[in-house]
Amino acid sequence: GQVLDRGATAVAHPNIALIKYWGKRDEGLVIPNVDSLSMTLDIFPTTTTVTVSPEAAGDTVTLDGSPAEGEPRQRVVAFLDLVRELAGRSEPATVDTRNSVPTGAGLASSASGFAALALAGAAAYGLDLDPTALSRLARRGSASAARSIFGGFAICHAGHGTGAEADLSSYAEPVPVPDFDPALVIAVVNAGPKAVSSRKAMRRTVETSPLYPSWARASRTDLSQMRAALHLGDLDAVGEIAERNALGMHATMLAARPAVRYMSPDTVAVLDSVLRLRADGVPAYATMDAGPNVKVLCRPADATRVAGALHAAAPGSRVVIARRGPGARLRTEAE
Ligand code: PMV
Repeated sequence: GQVLDRGATAVAHPNIALIKYWGKRDEGLVIPNVDSLSMTLDIFPTTTTVTVSPEAAGDTVTLDGSPAEGEPRQRVVAFLDLVRELAGRSEPATVDTRNSVPTGAGLASSASGFAALALAGAAAYGLDLDPTALSRLARRGSASAARSIFGGFAICHAGHGTGAEADLSSYAEPVPVPDFDPALVIAVVNAGPKAVSSRKAMRRTVETSPLYPSWARASRTDLSQMRAALHLGDLDAVGEIAERNALGMHATMLAARPAVRYMSPDTVAVLDSVLRLRADGVPAYATMDAGPNVKVLCRPADATRVAGALHAAAPGSRVVIARRGPGARLRTEAE
């Protein structure tokens, strides 16, 4: 009934890309330049409730208990406008979103955030979307969010063409990898907000970095080799490809004009500890996103040792062990 359809709560988890998305070819539609492949985590969920509020004067957005303002609020309102357009509706909404990690720190809060908002928003406005359509919708908030609709491993297609064709062909889908269940150890060296948003940093990289085209080209090879390595459950191959893909992405940013550098001295200390682990015979491979934090892929049996090594390298950091996690889901009334 109409009244029951007014509110919906969704939970989504962040994902970490093993093959990175960096750079858009359409900023308005949020169409990536390259395909990406990620693992959804079982930690740091975002819980979002969207309630349609016909009596309200406008949208109300609450982020971790405080009213959202400025750009964060604007991104949510623009996303709701898109949901309303698809649903042929116009009533305002109240959005309450809770992150279990700091927002905007390169810990994929935008991925879990827009995946949860897409699912809760679609349900609240009575849109019946299949997982592909939900993933395309989440992409409009943040391209990495398209992947958090799914659990485990997911690939996000950059799609083809322009305009409506690009919009229709760019979405994520699961990559079934039943025999590969690694740990991902996260060293949160700095939980503060990043100096340059990923949106700005990617635009600058695409427009000014002479290294960007070669990284994007190499990324295609990385992706096909990654798929084969995942299929074989070969942690060393998966890790090597993920590490070179991430370091290459950071190289494109370092070559941007002016340079975008997310790595801090602690980041480098943690990267050094990963090399030492490997020298000691522990398979461990690093990846990094738009922030100084380091995520290290390893065997579950080595996760505690790896966590200890990362913490020793950056004693101020918080270290958390993640495994593959579930896709976005709606919460039932009973929960
Ligand atoms: O979707 P955004 O704007 O949060 O972009 C994030 C891009 C990286 O995290 C750096 C890489 C990725 O594929 O997640």
